Amino acid sequence: MKNKSSLPIIDTFGRVHTNLRLSITDRCNIRCFYCMPLNVQFLPRTELLTYEEMVRIVKLLTPAGLDKIRITGGEPLVRKDVEQLIRQLASIDGIRDVALTTNGLLLEEMAASLKQAGLHRLNVSLDALHPDVFKKITRRSGLEKVLAGIDTAQQVGFTNIRINAVSIRGLSETEIIPLAKFCRQRNLTLRFIEYMPLDADRNWDLTQVLTGADLRSVIESEWGPLTPLYRTDPSQPAVDFAFQDGRGKIGFINSVSQPFCSQCNRMRLTADGKFRNCLFSAEDWDLRGPLRECATDQEILQIIRQAIAAKKPGHGIDDVDFLPPQRAMYQIGG
Ligand code: 5AD
Ligand code: SF4
Repeated sequence: MKNKSSLPIIDTFGRVHTNLRLSITDRCNIRCFYCMPLNVQFLPRTELLTYEEMVRIVKLLTPAGLDKIRITGGEPLVRKDVEQLIRQLASIDGIRDVALTTNGLLLEEMAASLKQAGLHRLNVSLDALHPDVFKKITRRSGLEKVLAGIDTAQQVGFTNIRINAVSIRGLSETEIIPLAKFCRQRNLTLRFIEYMPLDADRNWDLTQVLTGADLRSVIESEWGPLTPLYRTDPSQPAVDFAFQDGRGKIGFINSVSQPFCSQCNRMRLTADGKFRNCLFSAEDWDLRGPLRECATDQEILQIIRQAIAAKKPGHGIDDVDFLPPQRAMYQIGG
């Protein structure tokens, strides 16, 4: 019989959880309206998990099958010494992939040290190439820095960089083709993510969502029919396509119009140490308290197993009684 700590983390629908989204800060150097309120109050630092605490959680999850980690925020690059965390995570037995999602503002300075620390992959969020649209969304300037950051990341050897773009009806339609051109030219994979009800101001409305199908038809009107690509990883949320001329790849994360919950293998840990079984979950499970009150690894793993056992089949955005989670995106981690 297998040791209990090495049994897979499985929910009541048979989904096996091998992927952790680790938010390391709720802070950010910009203020995207779909994620944060303008006058945001950040957590006091003592409420954040320390890197040691995060590493402990990862180490107790790897025997149970955790093998992939994505570091998120807020903006993860604003937390001090993130390279030290990456170095530790990348060297844990069983972890085969450490990735990070960033807004790119600090990449120019940090790309080389991130690479050196052992970061495997990078996603950069970029919704607009026109400075005015960038500013409307992020409520800050900095587009030039993001572009320079992407260049530097490629120069220091990051490959397969993905650009995440949220496209909003009535605001950023003008950016769709330019973003696709930019990514094709630079060998970046563009992924459009549908706008989800995770904005702090609760202004989300279905009519603002440009769906993957809407975006695909804009792209196809410029470049002709896209060819679906074979899905190597069934838990991957994006549906990827190739352009007819073979140049570049484009994907659509249709979280609202075509939920991919049935294949979900993700666990989430917020910067203040709450474990979540879903972006949209109404509940979370505190790990920081037990960690600081000397709980054993077995006890912490048990809380995580209970949280996963309580996972619902899907996010239910379409349900009439759907309520967005109490926390906004920056307080959960993308
Ligand atoms: N809907 C969709 N995507 C969002 N992101 C942040 N907030 C939202 C939202 N409400 C994206 C960011 C980033 C990723 C972590 O999540 O743009 O690319
Ligand atoms: Fe910052 Fe990312 Fe939220 Fe934008 S979406 S405010 S970059 S954490």
